[in-house]
Amino acid sequence: MELIEVNTEKCIKCGICIDACPTRALVMGKNGPEAGQPQNCNMCGHCVALCPQAAIDNKNAPLVKQAALKEFPVLNAATAQQFLRSRRSIRCYQDTAVPRAELLKLVEIARFAPTASNRQGISYTIIEDKEILKKVTAVTVEWMESEILKKTISHWSFPIHIRAYREKGLDNILHNAPHLILATASNDLLKGRENTVFSLAYLELFATALGLGSCWAGLIEMCIFAKYEPLLELFNIPQGKVITGAVMVGYPKYRFKRLVDRNPLDVTWL
Ligand SMILES: Cc1cc2nc3c(=O)[nH]c(=O)nc-3n(C[C@H](O)[C@H](O)[C@H](O)COP(=O)(O)O)c2cc1C
Repeated sequence: MELIEVNTEKCIKCGICIDACPTRALVMGKNGPEAGQPQNCNMCGHCVALCPQAAIDNKNAPLVKQAALKEFPVLNAATAQQFLRSRRSIRCYQDTAVPRAELLKLVEIARFAPTASNRQGISYTIIEDKEILKKVTAVTVEWMESEILKKTISHWSFPIHIRAYREKGLDNILHNAPHLILATASNDLLKGRENTVFSLAYLELFATALGLGSCWAGLIEMCIFAKYEPLLELFNIPQGKVITGAVMVGYPKYRFKRLVDRNPLDVTWL
Protein backbone atom coordinates (compact mmCIF):
# COMPACT_ATOMS: atom_id res chain seq x y z
CA MET A 1 0.00 0.00 0.00
CA GLU A 2 1.17 3.52 -0.83
CA LEU A 3 0.88 6.01 2.04
CA ILE A 4 -2.82 6.52 1.41
CA GLU A 5 -5.49 4.52 -0.33
CA VAL A 6 -8.65 6.32 -1.38
CA ASN A 7 -11.95 4.69 -2.20
CA THR A 8 -12.89 6.91 -5.12
CA GLU A 9 -16.48 5.72 -5.08
CA LYS A 10 -16.93 6.97 -1.54
CA CYS A 11 -14.67 10.05 -1.71
CA ILE A 12 -16.55 13.31 -2.28
CA LYS A 13 -13.33 15.36 -2.65
CA CYS A 14 -14.32 17.58 0.27
CA GLY A 15 -10.62 18.21 0.95
CA ILE A 16 -10.91 17.88 4.75
CA CYS A 17 -8.03 15.37 4.85
CA ILE A 18 -5.80 17.82 2.98
CA ASP A 19 -6.85 20.79 5.08
CA ALA A 20 -6.19 18.95 8.33
CA CYS A 21 -2.86 17.32 7.45
CA PRO A 22 -0.32 19.00 9.78
CA THR A 23 2.65 18.26 7.55
CA ARG A 24 1.02 18.97 4.18
CA ALA A 25 1.67 15.44 3.00
CA LEU A 26 -1.54 15.29 0.94
CA VAL A 27 -2.67 17.16 -2.16
CA MET A 28 -5.88 17.05 -4.18
CA GLY A 29 -5.49 15.13 -7.41
CA LYS A 30 -7.94 14.58 -10.27
CA ASN A 31 -9.58 11.60 -8.59
CA GLY A 32 -9.26 12.67 -4.97
CA PRO A 33 -6.53 13.14 -2.36
CA GLU A 34 -3.03 11.92 -3.16
CA ALA A 35 0.16 11.67 -1.15
CA GLY A 36 2.23 14.55 -2.55
CA GLN A 37 4.92 14.31 0.15
CA PRO A 38 4.41 10.87 1.74
CA GLN A 39 7.68 11.12 3.66
CA ASN A 40 6.18 14.02 5.65
CA CYS A 41 3.37 11.97 7.20
CA ASN A 42 3.61 12.10 11.01
CA MET A 43 1.18 9.20 11.51
CA CYS A 44 -1.37 11.34 13.37
CA GLY A 45 -4.23 9.69 11.46
CA HIS A 46 -6.29 12.89 11.24
CA CYS A 47 -6.94 12.31 7.52
CA VAL A 48 -8.59 8.99 8.36
CA ALA A 49 -10.32 10.11 11.54
CA LEU A 50 -11.92 13.19 9.96
CA CYS A 51 -13.10 11.69 6.67
CA PRO A 52 -16.92 11.87 6.69
CA GLN A 53 -17.09 9.06 4.13
CA ALA A 54 -14.57 6.60 5.61
CA ALA A 55 -13.04 6.85 2.14
CA ILE A 56 -9.37 7.23 3.02
CA ASP A 57 -6.95 4.78 4.54
CA ASN A 58 -3.39 5.55 5.64
CA LYS A 59 -0.84 2.82 6.10
CA ASN A 60 0.70 4.75 9.01
CA ALA A 61 -2.66 5.10 10.77
CA PRO A 62 -4.88 2.32 9.42
CA LEU A 63 -8.61 2.77 9.25
CA VAL A 64 -9.21 -0.68 10.79
CA LYS A 65 -7.39 0.40 13.96
CA GLN A 66 -9.41 3.57 14.40
CA ALA A 67 -12.65 2.67 16.14
CA ALA A 68 -15.68 4.66 15.00
CA LEU A 69 -16.48 7.53 17.35
CA LYS A 70 -20.04 6.80 18.34
CA GLU A 71 -22.37 9.34 19.87
CA PHE A 72 -21.73 9.49 23.60
CA PRO A 73 -23.03 11.73 26.35
CA VAL A 74 -20.57 14.62 26.37
CA LEU A 75 -20.03 15.99 29.88
CA ASN A 76 -21.70 19.31 30.29
CA ALA A 77 -19.44 22.18 31.39
CA ALA A 78 -20.54 22.04 35.04
CA THR A 79 -19.89 18.31 35.31
CA ALA A 80 -16.56 18.60 33.50
CA GLN A 81 -15.50 21.41 35.84
CA GLN A 82 -16.52 19.39 38.86
CA PHE A 83 -14.64 16.34 37.55
CA LEU A 84 -11.45 18.34 37.01
CA ARG A 85 -11.69 20.27 40.28
CA SER A 86 -12.46 17.22 42.36
CA ARG A 87 -9.27 15.38 41.43
CA ARG A 88 -6.77 15.82 44.28
CA SER A 89 -3.32 14.49 45.08
CA ILE A 90 -3.66 11.41 47.26
CA ARG A 91 -1.15 10.99 50.07
CA CYS A 92 -3.01 8.47 52.23
CA TYR A 93 -3.49 5.05 50.66
CA GLN A 94 -5.19 1.84 51.68
CA ASP A 95 -2.78 -1.00 52.25
CA THR A 96 -4.19 -2.86 49.25
CA ALA A 97 -2.49 -3.69 46.00
CA VAL A 98 -4.26 -2.59 42.84
CA PRO A 99 -4.90 -5.56 40.49
CA ARG A 100 -2.71 -5.59 37.42
CA ALA A 101 -5.78 -5.40 35.17
CA GLU A 102 -6.68 -2.02 36.73
CA LEU A 103 -3.12 -0.71 36.50
CA LEU A 104 -3.07 -1.72 32.86
CA LYS A 105 -6.23 0.32 32.26
CA LEU A 106 -4.36 3.36 33.55
CA VAL A 107 -1.41 3.04 31.21
CA GLU A 108 -3.72 2.06 28.36
CA ILE A 109 -5.25 5.54 28.60
CA ALA A 110 -1.94 7.27 29.27
CA ARG A 111 -0.59 6.09 25.93
CA PHE A 112 -3.32 7.98 24.05
CA ALA A 113 -2.10 11.37 25.26
CA PRO A 114 -0.73 13.65 22.56
CA THR A 115 3.02 13.78 21.93
CA ALA A 116 5.17 16.28 20.05
CA SER A 117 5.04 15.47 16.31
CA ASN A 118 3.08 12.37 17.34
CA ARG A 119 6.39 10.64 18.11
CA GLN A 120 4.78 8.70 21.02
CA GLY A 121 7.53 6.47 22.45
CA ILE A 122 6.58 6.66 26.13
CA SER A 123 6.82 3.34 28.00
CA TYR A 124 5.79 2.58 31.55
CA THR A 125 7.36 0.62 34.36
CA ILE A 126 4.91 -0.33 37.11
CA ILE A 127 6.45 -1.15 40.45
CA GLU A 128 4.39 -3.39 42.71
CA ASP A 129 7.14 -5.04 44.76
CA LYS A 130 6.83 -3.67 48.31
CA GLU A 131 10.52 -4.23 49.03
CA ILE A 132 11.56 -2.13 46.04
CA LEU A 133 9.10 0.59 47.06
CA LYS A 134 10.51 0.68 50.58
CA LYS A 135 13.99 1.04 49.13
CA VAL A 136 12.84 3.87 46.86
CA THR A 137 11.86 5.89 49.93
CA ALA A 138 14.98 4.96 51.89
CA VAL A 139 17.34 5.77 49.04
CA THR A 140 15.59 9.05 48.19
CA VAL A 141 15.94 10.14 51.82
CA GLU A 142 19.65 9.24 51.71
CA TRP A 143 20.00 11.32 48.56
CA MET A 144 18.31 14.30 50.23
CA GLU A 145 20.70 14.02 53.16
CA SER A 146 23.69 13.95 50.84
CA GLU A 147 22.39 16.93 48.90
CA ILE A 148 21.98 18.95 52.06
CA LEU A 149 25.60 18.19 52.98
CA LYS A 150 26.86 19.01 49.50
CA LYS A 151 24.64 22.09 49.33
CA THR A 152 23.96 21.40 45.64
CA ILE A 153 20.25 20.81 45.16
CA SER A 154 18.46 22.08 48.19
CA HIS A 155 14.71 22.10 48.49
CA TRP A 156 12.97 23.71 51.44
CA SER A 157 11.08 20.52 52.21
CA PHE A 158 14.05 18.12 52.39
CA PRO A 159 14.69 18.56 56.15
CA ILE A 160 10.98 17.97 56.87
CA HIS A 161 10.94 14.67 54.96
CA ILE A 162 14.24 13.50 56.38
CA ARG A 163 13.13 14.18 59.96
CA ALA A 164 9.76 12.48 59.43
CA TYR A 165 11.52 9.40 58.11
CA ARG A 166 14.43 9.21 60.54
CA GLU A 167 12.60 10.21 63.71
CA LYS A 168 9.11 8.79 63.14
CA GLY A 169 9.52 6.27 60.31
CA LEU A 170 7.01 8.23 58.18
CA ASP A 171 7.15 7.95 54.41
CA ASN A 172 6.70 11.47 52.99
CA ILE A 173 8.32 10.40 49.75
CA LEU A 174 6.05 7.66 48.43
CA HIS A 175 3.36 8.02 51.10
CA ASN A 176 3.27 4.20 51.42
CA ALA A 177 1.57 3.99 48.04
CA PRO A 178 1.34 0.40 46.82
CA HIS A 179 2.52 1.33 43.34
CA LEU A 180 4.88 3.68 41.58
CA ILE A 181 4.48 4.17 37.85
CA LEU A 182 7.51 5.40 35.95
CA ALA A 183 7.35 6.79 32.44
CA THR A 184 10.40 6.09 30.32
CA ALA A 185 11.51 7.18 26.89
CA SER A 186 14.54 6.79 24.72
CA ASN A 187 17.01 9.48 25.70
CA ASP A 188 16.76 11.26 22.34
CA LEU A 189 12.94 11.38 22.16
CA LEU A 190 11.73 14.80 21.07
CA LYS A 191 10.23 16.55 24.12
CA GLY A 192 10.20 13.35 26.16
CA ARG A 193 9.51 15.14 29.44
CA GLU A 194 6.65 17.26 28.10
CA ASN A 195 5.07 14.21 26.46
CA THR A 196 5.38 12.37 29.75
CA VAL A 197 3.66 15.14 31.67
CA PHE A 198 0.69 14.96 29.30
CA SER A 199 0.61 11.18 29.47
CA LEU A 200 0.74 11.01 33.26
CA ALA A 201 -1.84 13.79 33.54
CA TYR A 202 -4.21 11.63 31.48
CA LEU A 203 -3.38 8.73 33.79
CA GLU A 204 -4.04 10.77 36.92
CA LEU A 205 -7.40 12.05 35.70
CA PHE A 206 -8.54 8.64 34.50
CA ALA A 207 -7.47 7.05 37.79
CA THR A 208 -10.36 8.78 39.55
CA ALA A 209 -12.82 7.00 37.24
CA LEU A 210 -11.43 3.67 38.45
CA GLY A 211 -11.72 4.66 42.11
CA LEU A 212 -7.96 5.09 42.28
CA GLY A 213 -5.90 7.95 43.64
CA SER A 214 -2.51 9.23 42.58
CA CYS A 215 0.13 11.78 43.39
CA TRP A 216 2.95 13.13 41.27
CA ALA A 217 6.21 11.79 42.69
CA GLY A 218 8.18 15.01 42.31
CA LEU A 219 10.72 14.29 45.06
CA ILE A 220 11.55 10.92 43.53
CA GLU A 221 11.84 12.60 40.15
CA MET A 222 14.36 15.07 41.59
CA CYS A 223 16.48 12.18 42.78
CA ILE A 224 16.10 10.40 39.42
CA PHE A 225 16.96 13.49 37.39
CA ALA A 226 20.02 14.02 39.62
CA LYS A 227 21.05 10.54 38.35
CA TYR A 228 21.47 9.14 41.86
CA GLU A 229 22.76 5.66 41.09
CA PRO A 230 21.42 3.80 44.16
CA LEU A 231 17.91 4.84 43.09
CA LEU A 232 18.36 4.20 39.38
CA GLU A 233 19.73 0.72 40.11
CA LEU A 234 16.39 -0.23 41.69
CA PHE A 235 14.51 0.44 38.46
CA ASN A 236 16.59 -1.56 36.01
CA ILE A 237 15.71 0.68 33.06
CA PRO A 238 16.97 -0.67 29.71
CA GLN A 239 20.06 0.91 28.13
CA GLY A 240 19.27 3.93 25.97
CA LYS A 241 16.13 4.76 27.94
CA VAL A 242 15.66 7.36 30.64
CA ILE A 243 13.00 7.89 33.26
CA THR A 244 10.92 10.91 32.32
CA GLY A 245 8.31 11.01 35.07
CA ALA A 246 6.89 9.26 38.12
CA VAL A 247 3.47 9.00 39.72
CA MET A 248 2.35 6.99 42.75
CA VAL A 249 -0.97 5.15 42.63
CA GLY A 250 -3.26 3.27 44.99
CA TYR A 251 -6.73 3.19 46.53
CA PRO A 252 -7.38 6.37 48.51
CA LYS A 253 -7.92 5.96 52.24
CA TYR A 254 -10.10 9.07 52.54
CA ARG A 255 -12.56 10.89 50.29
CA PHE A 256 -12.27 14.63 49.69
CA LYS A 257 -15.46 16.49 50.58
CA ARG A 258 -14.63 19.80 48.89
CA LEU A 259 -13.56 21.06 45.50
CA VAL A 260 -10.11 22.56 45.12
CA ASP A 261 -9.60 26.30 45.43
CA ARG A 262 -6.54 28.07 43.98
CA ASN A 263 -5.13 31.58 43.71
CA PRO A 264 -7.41 34.05 41.91
CA LEU A 265 -7.35 33.82 38.14
CA ASP A 266 -4.58 35.90 36.57
CA VAL A 267 -5.28 36.52 32.91
CA THR A 268 -4.13 39.11 30.39
CA TRP A 269 -5.94 39.96 27.16
CA LEU A 270 -4.09 41.40 24.19
C1 LIG B 1 5.26 18.41 39.16
C2 LIG B 1 4.64 18.04 40.50
C3 LIG B 1 5.41 17.44 41.47
C4 LIG B 1 4.84 17.05 42.68
N1 LIG B 1 5.59 16.37 43.59
C5 LIG B 1 5.03 15.94 44.73
C6 LIG B 1 5.77 15.14 45.68
O1 LIG B 1 6.94 14.81 45.47
N2 LIG B 1 5.17 14.75 46.81
C7 LIG B 1 3.87 15.07 47.09
O2 LIG B 1 3.39 14.68 48.13
N3 LIG B 1 3.13 15.81 46.22
C8 LIG B 1 3.68 16.23 45.05
N4 LIG B 1 2.92 16.94 44.14
C9 LIG B 1 1.54 17.24 44.43
C10 LIG B 1 1.34 18.73 44.75
O3 LIG B 1 1.94 19.01 45.99
C11 LIG B 1 -0.16 19.01 44.74
O4 LIG B 1 -0.62 18.93 43.41
C12 LIG B 1 -0.51 20.37 45.29
O5 LIG B 1 -0.20 20.45 46.64
C13 LIG B 1 -2.01 20.69 45.12
O6 LIG B 1 -2.81 19.68 45.68
P1 LIG B 1 -3.93 18.91 44.82
O7 LIG B 1 -3.19 18.18 43.69
O8 LIG B 1 -4.58 17.96 45.75
O9 LIG B 1 -4.88 19.91 44.30
C14 LIG B 1 3.48 17.32 42.93
C15 LIG B 1 2.71 17.93 41.95
C16 LIG B 1 3.27 18.28 40.73
C17 LIG B 1 2.40 18.91 39.67
